[in-house]
Parts: sequence; structure tokens; C-alpha cells
Amino acid sequence: MAQLWGGRFTKETDQLVYNFNASISFDKKFYKQDIEGSVAHVRMLGKQGILTEEETQAIVDGLNGILADVESGKLLITDEYEDIHSFVEANLIDRLGDTGKKLHTGRSRNDQVALDMRLYTRIQVLETDELLVELLQVLLRLMKENTETIMPGFTHLQKAQPITLAHHMGAYFEMFKRDRMRLHDIYKRMNYCPLGSGALAGTTYPLDREYTAELLDFYGPTLNSMDGVSDRDYLIEFLSALSTIMMHLSRFSEEIIIWNSNEYQFVEIDDAYSTGSSIMPQKKNPDIAELVRGKTGRVYGALMSLLTTMKGIPLAYNKDMQEDKELSFDAMDTAKGCIALFTGMMDTIRFNREVMRKSANNGFTNATDAADYLVKNGVPFRDAHGIIGQIVLYCIEKDIAIDDMSLEELQKFSPVFKEDVYDAISMETCVNMRCTIGAPSKTAMEQVIAQEEKYLSEKWER
Ligand code: ARG
Repeated sequence: MAQLWGGRFTKETDQLVYNFNASISFDKKFYKQDIEGSVAHVRMLGKQGILTEEETQAIVDGLNGILADVESGKLLITDEYEDIHSFVEANLIDRLGDTGKKLHTGRSRNDQVALDMRLYTRIQVLETDELLVELLQVLLRLMKENTETIMPGFTHLQKAQPITLAHHMGAYFEMFKRDRMRLHDIYKRMNYCPLGSGALAGTTYPLDREYTAELLDFYGPTLNSMDGVSDRDYLIEFLSALSTIMMHLSRFSEEIIIWNSNEYQFVEIDDAYSTGSSIMPQKKNPDIAELVRGKTGRVYGALMSLLTTMKGIPLAYNKDMQEDKELSFDAMDTAKGCIALFTGMMDTIRFNREVMRKSANNGFTNATDAADYLVKNGVPFRDAHGIIGQIVLYCIEKDIAIDDMSLEELQKFSPVFKEDVYDAISMETCVNMRCTIGAPSKTAMEQVIAQEEKYLSEKWER
């Protein structure tokens, strides 16, 4: 049991207490950020004359040596230390003797861990953003390829009006684009450095907080030391953004599962992204989509957990806050994994365009347009709605589509029908007459695609 704080104690910690308190099993995940933070802190101490030049250089070299040895596998992070901070400090002291003991001058583990978690989360925000860009690129390609791929659009999971596959993919494009904007907002708010907050009330050393903030690529220091050590808002915001991403992926997964079902057969998931059954040889299951849908609960769980952990904590640091890590790490890894797998699945999925088209034809998706045809020819909308309703009933009985009826048959329901009705209610007309921005027509979609292409070509200015 290697502890940093043994001085005031006369008894050994009970082993169960030690285990309960220790965090090394999970905070070792940010060893790199812990060392980077320490290097910046020590450089600042040197610049301020709090450490000599020689001491500063020795500690920086020592820390970089520890980092290199951990990365090469030469130095293992083991459970004999309480947390990652103790591990690094103890190793530094092993290497440098008394000089190593000066590392923690003007710092507390409270501002240290606040910094580490922020640095780690900041990287996660960036990595999640990059993964979303890759997903958006696949969606944009599918949009470009499918501006003429007609399929039914649904409300209540009932066929409603014809759309195109490009339009359907475009809806998800918008969702994931907003998800990126949320990440960018979070980044802007979180990118301030808590180091120098001390245990809660700053320190008596003449620290240069602007300097450490700059070394670590933050916009500046946080402005209240009690808030600096106890703020986890940025993590809650990030978990909330990840939850929204998962909610979007889960909706998308649900559709892929439906589209992949034997009844729909709109898509075929690539063999590389499907799994079989141990007993039923015919099966090819959409397990990836199901798992993404299922894992959504884990990410929501992490958000609920942290919100609940934080709600009763008085200022400033309390040990409850150590609970910010395990579930957050899990949520970050889960969400990133899900985005990457979903992107791969969508990049390789095959669309059965014929089946989609037939499904649109056979579902009365042109009923609204048939009613509009009557309206354009002078029939009041409510009457037109009633007439088409009767026609739909007639077609259901005969198991045909409206387009399959002869002109005489149509005219029995209304004398207003003329030969041009067939063109007016064709799937192509139904889609391409919907040409306001945001609607499914080819021209409207092409305008949107051009905008989205420009959006994806622009780099995010941090
Ligand atoms: N493992 C702790 C955490 O994750 C580090 C901070 C410890 N500070 C303290 N005063 N015990 O929050």
C-alpha cells in the first residue's frame, strides 16, 4: 500500500477500506494526461522561480521517462498504488530521490484530477467528432447515389407518401450534424484549465495559471478555484451529447433491423456485419444494429449516474466525484465503438431498390397526390379526400394500386378524372413535385447535397 498521505496516521488502512478507496484500476486510463499535466505544472514552477532550472529539467525528464517506459511496456501500472497520481509521483521519487518530492509543490490531487479528467474528455470529444465526420461522409455518398431511389416514407410505421432513399439518409445526416455542433459547443465551454485551483482555495505560491493553461492548449484558466476543482458540468454535457448520438444511432438501427427483416427486405447487411444462428442454418441476423440499439441504455445510464452523483455534493471537492470516471469511460468507449461499427455497416449495406420501389407503389403512397389532382381540377379538398378514400377501399378489395385502375373505373368515382391523372400520381411526380427546400425532389435534394458537401469540406475552427 503506497500512500501519499501517511504522515498524520498511526495505523495502517484496513485492506477493504484501501480497496474501496483506490482508483488506480480505472484512473490509470489517463496516465498520459496526468504526466502531461505534471510536465506543464513543473515548467510553470520553473519559470516562476519556485523550482530551480536544474530541478525543473530533472523532473521533466523524469516524467517523460516514466511516460516512455509505460508506453513501451517496460513499466507496468499496478494496483499497489492508490491512484495514478501516486503511481507517477512514487516512480519519479524512485528515479530522482528528493528532487522528485518537489513535483507536487503548489498543487493538490483535487486540481490535478480535475485537470486530468478534462484533458482526457477533451480528446474524447475530438475523437467522437472525427468518427461522426466519417459517418456523415458515408451518408452523403448514399444521398448522392440515391436521389432517384424511390421508397415509401412512413408515419406510424404505415406507408404515407413516397420519398427517396437520399431523403431518408438526409434526415439522419441532419441529426448527426447537430450532434457534432453539440460537441463543438461543449468543447468551447470546457476548454479552461482548472490547474492552480489547489485543494479548493488556490495556493500561496506565485503560480502563473495563464502559462499552464497555454502550455496545455486551453483558452485560459478557470476563474473560481472552488468551481475549478468541483465542476463536472462538461462531463455531464458530454454524456448528454453521447446519449443523443446513441439515441440517433438506435433509431437508425431500429430502421435497419426492420428493413433487413424477411417481410421488408429493403436492405441486405453485408456478411462481414451480420452473424448467424447456432441452430437455424438459414439465419443472417442484424446483431450489430441490435447491439447498438441495446448499448444505448448503458450510455444513458452513465448520464443518469453522474447527474445523481453530483446533485448533493457541497462545495468543493468530495470523494463522491471519483465516481465520475468508470461509467463515463465506458460510455465514451461504447459510443465511439458504436459510431465506428455503424459507419462500417452502412458503408457496406446493399439496398434492394426494386423492393423499395414496389413497396412505395403498393402502399397507396400517392393517395394524397390523387386527392390533390382532384382539388387542382376544382373539387373541394374534403370531397376529394372522401372520393380517394372510397377508391382506396375499392383497390384494397381488388388488391390493386390506384394506378392500376382504368380511366372508366376511376371516372365511376369522379367524372373529373382524365387521362393525365396517371402522370399526376406516378411515384416520380409525387416525389419531384415536392421541391421546396428540405423536401424529397431530386432538385431540392441536390441543393441540400451541395450545401452538406461544403459543410463537410470545412474544418472545425477550435
Ligand atoms: N482519485 C481521486 C478522484 O478521482 C483523486 C482526487 C483525490 N483527492 C482527494 N482529496 N482524495 O477524484
